[in-house]
Amino acid sequence: MKNKIKTKLKEIKLSNGFRVRKVKDSGNSHIFVYKNKELLSFASNDYLSLSNDKRIINSAKKALDNHGYSTSSSALISGYTKSHFKLEEELSNFLGQEKTLLFSTGYQANLGVIKSLVSRGDNIISDKLNHASLIDGSLTSRANFKRYNHNDCKNLEEMLIGTKGKNNLVVSDSLFSMDGDTPNIKKMSTLAKKYDALLLIDEAHSIGIFEKYGRGLIYKNSLNNKENIFVTGTFGKAIGTFGAFFSGKKDHVEYVLQKARSYIYSTSLPINAVEATRKSLKIISKENWRREKLFSLISYYKKNIKKSGFTSLKSNSQIQALLVGSSKDALYVSDQLFKSGIYIPAIRPPTVEEGKSRLRISLTVDHQLSDIDYLINILQKISRNLVQSQECVKK
Ligand SMILES: Cc1ncc(COP(=O)(O)O)c(C=O)c1O
Repeated sequence: MKNKIKTKLKEIKLSNGFRVRKVKDSGNSHIFVYKNKELLSFASNDYLSLSNDKRIINSAKKALDNHGYSTSSSALISGYTKSHFKLEEELSNFLGQEKTLLFSTGYQANLGVIKSLVSRGDNIISDKLNHASLIDGSLTSRANFKRYNHNDCKNLEEMLIGTKGKNNLVVSDSLFSMDGDTPNIKKMSTLAKKYDALLLIDEAHSIGIFEKYGRGLIYKNSLNNKENIFVTGTFGKAIGTFGAFFSGKKDHVEYVLQKARSYIYSTSLPINAVEATRKSLKIISKENWRREKLFSLISYYKKNIKKSGFTSLKSNSQIQALLVGSSKDALYVSDQLFKSGIYIPAIRPPTVEEGKSRLRISLTVDHQLSDIDYLINILQKISRNLVQSQECVKK
């Protein structure tokens, strides 16, 4: 067994798939401090630049002083406090949903929710590019797992026709984390209704970003508070804190609370994370200027990125992907950026398909136009070198 692991590790290294963690000294949304060197970062999900907001930090500190760190129990035993209750109520109001359940992470939320809603004999119909947590939740549920082509509602309908009369759950990200594109949620909801399916949308990357007050794409499309539609989301991205949620009609949320093992058998969120999130939600709904600034950066990036020499995937969001191709080339580009003071790790298989390794660029409120200019300038130089070296290899 020991030798097998050694061989497998070697294989990962040979395929340029070996992953290493860089120890960050500090920084978050647009700065990554590594070995005392400040790098310009495009690698954080702190899209609204709130994780270092003093108002949020003070709320967390106050909660720590008053309640200590751990809740020391799962919610159903003794880990459910007034703070948890208030955040659930405030989230329901914010999202326009009947009821909300807090989870400790988005991964746990997706695992617990999917496994509660479907089981053996049911069907899950899932976008091919869904996040790993949605896939893992689907696989552990033991329902039949079917995948439709990315954002292809025609293919989704074909699958729904093929599974008519069964208990079906359609699952999708609302903003795809590695491509930055969004599905046609309106059309998906029409199809779910037509074929009597449930629809679960993961708003991990959309909460805080879309809709005037940051209520996400479900709210923006007036699909909140619908009998067959529910949402999950995480606080670890635009909200700038930690934790996650599931929201929908009262009965569905109540049912998940009875069934979700990742909820029932896990310590509840620390109160400081809950209080920090309560504060962040208030800021997010009031400070529209954050979304306005982010979208002006997105427009500027999209207008200028063509100059970089790399192919940019179609996206109107804060997540922008530059296609590189092989893992080796993606690592090369990332290394060259690093040498010029820019931090963007290479995204490789199995996170993305073989041959579609890329740079995932996330824009945040604290970025400046000059940061984007600098990035594009350096990318131009790297793409020229890359083309030259590829031509040499061909000769
Ligand atoms: C679409 C999506 N869902 C869920 C998660 C998991 O959320 P968390 O980090 O809170 O576990 C992520 C995070 O990477 C994500 O991108």
